[in-house]
Amino acid sequence: VVLAEMAGSDAPELLDLIVRNREFLRPWDPIRPASWFTLASVHAELARANADRRADRGYVFGIRERDGGALVGRIALSNVVRGAWQNATVGYFVGREHNGLGYATAAMGAALRFAFGPAGLHRVQAAIMPRNVASIRVVEKNGFRFEGLARRYLQIAGTWEDHNVYAVTVEEWPGPG
Ligand SMILES: CC(C)(COP(=O)(O)OP(=O)(O)OC[C@H]1O[C@@H](n2cnc3c(N)ncnc32)[C@H](O)[C@@H]1OP(=O)(O)O)[C@@H](O)C(=O)NCCC(=O)NCCS
Repeated sequence: VVLAEMAGSDAPELLDLIVRNREFLRPWDPIRPASWFTLASVHAELARANADRRADRGYVFGIRERDGGALVGRIALSNVVRGAWQNATVGYFVGREHNGLGYATAAMGAALRFAFGPAGLHRVQAAIMPRNVASIRVVEKNGFRFEGLARRYLQIAGTWEDHNVYAVTVEEWPGPG
C-alpha cells in the first residue's frame, strides 16, 4: 500500500469506504450521527484535514493499494505538538474486506517514516482498547512499546473505554527498512 494525501475529489471514494464499513467500524469509533455518512460531511472532514496539514496540526492520509490504487483505509497523525514535545497521536482503519493482508501494518510503517522523516517528530502515540488485538499487533510490529493503561480515555461507541497507551520514539524506531 501507499499513503496518499486526500483532496476534495477523493470525497466520493472515501464516503463509499466508510458507508461500506459502517457496521465494521461501529465498535471502534465514536458514535457517528447519520449526517457523518454524507458527501457534505466527508468534504468538510477533508477540508479540515487540509487546514490541519497547512497549520502543522495533523496529517491525514488515504491508504491506497499500490496496484490499481483503490482506497482501502485511512491513517492520521493528529494532535501534533511542537516545542519540547514533538509528539503526535495516530489513528487508523482498514476496510473489512482488506483486513488480514498486512495493509495496516505497512501503512503504519509509512506513517512513521513520514513522522520521523519529513515531519520531524520525536514521538508517536497510539491508544488501543485491550480487546482490539488486531490493532495491538499493528503497533507491536512497528516497534511501539506498551506504556500503561489509561482509564476511561476515549468515548468509543458511547462508552468511556480504558485504553492501552503505546508509543515509539525515533531513537527506538526500527527504521525505514
Ligand atoms: C485494526 C485494523 C486496522 C487492522 O488492519 P489489518 O490491515 O487487517 O492489519 P494487518 O493485516 O496489518 O495486521 C493485523 C494483525 O492482527 C492479527 N489479528 C487480526 N485479527 C486477530 C484476532 N482476532 N486475534 C488475534 N490476532 C488478530 C493478524 O493476524 C495480524 O497479525 P500478524 O501479522 O501477527 O499475524 C483493522 O482491523 C481495522 O481497521 N479495525 C477497525 C478500526 C480500528 O480498530 N482501528 C484501530 C483503532 S486503535
